[in-house]
Formats: sequence, C-alpha cells, structure tokens
Amino acid sequence: MTFPKNFLWGGATAANQIEGAFDVAGKGLSTADVMTLGAHGVKRKITKEIEADVHYPSHQAIDHYHRYREDIALMAELGFKVYRFSINWTRIFPEGDEKEPNRAGLEFYDSLLDELEKYRIQPLVTISHFETPLGLQKYGSWQSRRLVEFYLNYATVLFKHFKGRIRYWLTFNEINCMSTQPWVAGGIDSEDESVRMVSAYHQLVASAMAVKIAHEIDPGNQVGMMYAGHFAYPASPHPDDIVKTMEFMQEMLFYCDVQCRGYYPSYKLKELERLNIELPIEPGDDDLLQEGTVDFLSYSYYNTHVTGANTKGILKGMNGLDTGYKNQHLPKSEWGWTIDPQGLRYSLNLLYDRYQLPLMIVENGLGAVDVLVDGRVHDQYRIDYLKSHLLELEKAIDLDGVNVMGYTMWGPIDLVAASTGEMKKRYGFIYVDVDDRGQGTFQRIKKDSFAWYQKVIATNGASLKEEI
Ligand code: BG6
Repeated sequence: MTFPKNFLWGGATAANQIEGAFDVAGKGLSTADVMTLGAHGVKRKITKEIEADVHYPSHQAIDHYHRYREDIALMAELGFKVYRFSINWTRIFPEGDEKEPNRAGLEFYDSLLDELEKYRIQPLVTISHFETPLGLQKYGSWQSRRLVEFYLNYATVLFKHFKGRIRYWLTFNEINCMSTQPWVAGGIDSEDESVRMVSAYHQLVASAMAVKIAHEIDPGNQVGMMYAGHFAYPASPHPDDIVKTMEFMQEMLFYCDVQCRGYYPSYKLKELERLNIELPIEPGDDDLLQEGTVDFLSYSYYNTHVTGANTKGILKGMNGLDTGYKNQHLPKSEWGWTIDPQGLRYSLNLLYDRYQLPLMIVENGLGAVDVLVDGRVHDQYRIDYLKSHLLELEKAIDLDGVNVMGYTMWGPIDLVAASTGEMKKRYGFIYVDVDDRGQGTFQRIKKDSFAWYQKVIATNGASLKEEI
C-alpha cells in the first residue's frame, strides 16, 4: 500500500453537532442553536429565538462537552493521528462583537487539547463550522463588512492563545455552502443572489486575512480552505449537458479559485456583471486575497451529482441535493445520497490538476440507520462504504501521484446530522445511545467498524487489501 508514512488518519466532527451544553459557561447562541429537528425531506426550521417545547438538536447533541475525555480516549484507541474538530465561536465570543474573549470557553478547548496531547493526536481545527453568533444578526451577519473584523478578532485570539498547540487550521467549513445553504454557512436567510455573493465576498476576504495573520503569528501554521465537495457529471455527451455541467462546477469552484489562486476568476466576474451585482471591494482587498492564499485544500466527499441542460442553477436549500437528474449507475444511501467511490479519485485528480496544492479529505462517510442488538452494531455496510472509498483514495496517490495529506472520516462518533438534525442518521464507529428527541443513556458503544478502522490505521492502509 502506498499511503505516505506520515499520512494523517483520523476523524472529523463539528462543535454544534457534538458538544451540546449550548448555554453553559457563558456560551452565547449561534445560528445552529435556533435550528429545529427536521427529517429526510423535511426542512429544519429556523426560529428567531429559542421557543418553548421545540426540540433543538444542538442544545444537547451527544453531550461531548461533558464527555470529551471518554470520547477522545476512544479516538486514541482507534489510533487517530489527527482529530478534526471545530471551536464553537460563541463559547469564545458569546455575542460575537465583544472585544475580549470568554476565558471559560478558551479553557474548555485547553482541556480538550490536553487530552489530545496525552495521546499524541494532532488537532486540525475548523475556526467556523456552521455556527455564526446570533448576536451578529443585528449587523446583517455576513452581509456586513463588520463581520470580517469580528471574525478576525476571534481567529486572532485562537492563533495567539493556542500558538504551538494547533498547527493545522481551516478558516470556514464548506465555504461554498454560502451559495446553497446560506443560513448554515453564515446566518444569511435570503434567496437573493446579491446578498449571498456579498456575504461570500466578506468570508473570502476574512479567510485571506486570517491566513496572513496565522502565518505572521506562527510561521509553522498551515491554513487550509474547506470545500463542500460538489462534483457533477454531465447527463449525456450532448454539448448542452457538457456546458451546463461546466457552469455548475464554476458556480461551486469559484470559492476554491479565490482561496487557492488569490483572485476572482474571469467567469465569475462576468457573471456578477451580467447579474448587476457589485462586490463591496475596498482599497487593498485585491492584495489581501492574493497574500492570503491557502496552504492546502481540504474538502468533504460524500457523493456526486449529475447535471445537464435542464438543471436550474445551483443546489439550493438544506436538503437541496436534487439537480433534477439521477445517476442510474450508482446506488444510494438511505438518505438518497449517491455512493460513488470512483468519484473520489476523480475529484482528487480534478482538484490537484487545477491547484497543485496538497489535498486533504476532511469528511467522508455513510449516514445510515444502525440497529443495536444485544449491545452490538453490525455495520458491514459502513465498512464497505469506507473501504471502497479508501481504495480509490489510494489509487489517486499511487496511480495518479496526487498529494494527499490525510483523511478524516466524518463522524467517528455518532452525532447530530447537519442537514436534518437527526440522530438516527448515524456515521460513527462509535454508537451513541440517544435518539432524535434527545432521549437515551448517552452510552458509547463500539460498532463492528471500530475494529476495522483501527486496523486500517495500524497498518497504514495495508489491511484494506485484505478480504473481510
Ligand atoms: C457536511 C458538513 O456538509 O456534511 C457536516 O460539513 C455534515 O457538518 C456532513 O454533518 C454530513 O451531512 P449530514 O447532513 O448527513 O450531517
């Protein structure tokens, strides 16, 4: 097997999907804390404030805030080299616009890092993973340039406080979700393309400045971008389908273009001109974008799409993965996501050809209903999913020479699903005994896939070739 010697094997989570303790130790409310429980095909609602008798999954999640020691011990048992987690912005800045951070918030992550260091697990930290402070709504959230200032104040506190302890950073989780799920990506509840593009501009400027500041504070910092891995195949060889697919990919990839190349690509500038959208560019911004290009590109990979002449614009809405086309060659998960291991190799090549930057898969996994019988979960389907994807990842490294830094499987421990808020859409190697309504013992139970992944890491991927 050809996984590099120091390949970063691990798993990934997000604060609002695991921590719970949503109002503990001075934490403020975030955009995630006002999202209700949905279901497959049922959109999560966004309420203006916390309403009585409504279930908000982030409030309790899997109670990682109180159980992180146990959870990290299990990750250590899995053999993790790296753990991707996010810092909850509103633990550090409860309203978002304070000058000074909330010490109790920093202390929580200090303790979490103590645990990781105990087991020599490298942290990979997402600075903002789908939880903009609700207190920033009064500014219009990311529509306002003030958000750049608040984000940078927050990021700078992190870079200084955790200097030497955290080396790998991601500025925004799935930044291209500003085009598809703007509330989740930045507290923007609008269908208006100009609002979305102005907000995206501010995030891109904030990200570039954060990269610069991170490098200034510690030249050892490695800062990456994080792309929601949307990749599309044309519905047919008809040129109309091919061109539409090209346009679809441009709508998504322009975020990577800006963060990896340092400027808006010509096709995006022309489109904005056609739509009469003026970006709020301030003097010096062009230089900032150029100076703040990322050190590596990370992305999530779950599935692929099909697009064609009849695809109407980009994917919109929380559960909006429907382009109007289906891929009859691929199976689907219980939540309707196609399963396409070869697409992973395809996407790695596409991004590596385009940017020539080190890549990292920071999310990949199968959300499925697991059944606990006599204290066991036999999740062979999850093993099959992960194995088939890792074998394609290996081909990208071995056959194509793609530079891949690591792989953090999504949801090593069951957590709240971002799109639906459900617990029953489970990803983990570790089962958590809690249901969609937050009822259960919260006991952690190893699934069959636990021992399987443990072996994959222990053999640096060599065991993938063994029959199971
Ligand atoms: C990514 C997000 O979009 O997909 C995660 O970064 C999310 O936060 C993951 O959990 C899987 O999606 P879902 O809806 O199944 O949780």
